[in-house]
Amino acid sequence: MFGLIGKKLSHSFSKKYFTEKFQKLTLSPKDGYVYELFELSKIDNFNSLIKENPSLRGLNVTIPYKKEIIPFLDKLDSTAQKIGAVNTIKVENDGTKTGYNTDYIGFKNSLEIFLNIKPNSIFKEKALILGTGGAAQAVRIALEDLEINFDFVSSSINEIQNHSTYKIIPYSEIDTLGYKLIINTTPLGMYPKVDGFPPLSEKNYSKIDSTYFLYDLVYNPKETAFLKKGKSKGAKIINGLEMLHGQAEAAAKIWKI
Ligand SMILES: NC(=O)c1ccc[n+]([C@@H]2O[C@H](COP(=O)([O-])OP(=O)(O)OC[C@H]3O[C@@H](n4cnc5c(N)ncnc54)[C@H](OP(=O)(O)O)[C@@H]3O)[C@@H](O)[C@H]2O)c1
Repeated sequence: MFGLIGKKLSHSFSKKYFTEKFQKLTLSPKDGYVYELFELSKIDNFNSLIKENPSLRGLNVTIPYKKEIIPFLDKLDSTAQKIGAVNTIKVENDGTKTGYNTDYIGFKNSLEIFLNIKPNSIFKEKALILGTGGAAQAVRIALEDLEINFDFVSSSINEIQNHSTYKIIPYSEIDTLGYKLIINTTPLGMYPKVDGFPPLSEKNYSKIDSTYFLYDLVYNPKETAFLKKGKSKGAKIINGLEMLHGQAEAAAKIWKI
């Protein structure tokens, strides 16, 4: 059995995705190829979930448990450790539970295609990551691995914070001119609040032109207000759908499906 843990799971992409995948591959529910939703009101209920479902082989993890799940696992792969968040768990036959982060893989693979990064080549421009939450950390490690320089923009600080290889900058201080790749990792613009967008100033949005690349992790709607702003200026745009499919495919590989 496989499944998803999170707090509210009524609109799950993963259940539909894996149920259809099992059907396509003619993998039978009798052999354990079912994907269930497990709503946990608190993460402390995780151990009883595992005990009550001894046939569980793999789990996805979603909001708000991607960080909180870590103390309940036996091992973390090195990328999940660097990111500090887990969205995929593999349960071994002996019960060992290992945490992975396939948001990282989904994002990195889709970015390489979007930027047309070939093996042994790099994207020389600087990137700006909007937001500093869980998904932003997966984006951070992917950019580091692709050797793309970046800074963060955060709504929760008032002055520029300098870290060893990047800065965290308040929205009021940002100048998009220096950043050709802008990545929205905030939920702003997500259905149903589709008019929302990251609060960069209109002056900053007006600097965007056809040399810019805008990536929005949001996938519903397909074209967010943020992406529309970039598209109207000729920027290249991508939404979070390829990342979403990529993270699910990477989880399937980890589970050897
Ligand atoms: N496509 C995919 O496969 C995929 C995968 C994972 C996540 N996502 C999407 O990515 C988004 C973020 O997910 P997450 O798990 O990283 O959430 P999260 O941990 O809650 O982080 C979101 C961050 O966005 C910023 N933010 C939140 N509300 C804001 C507001 N009103 N104004 C300005 N900034 C705000 C905050 O950063 P600051 O405090 O620094 O501003 C916050 O830490 C969601 O829309 C999610 O659906 C997509």
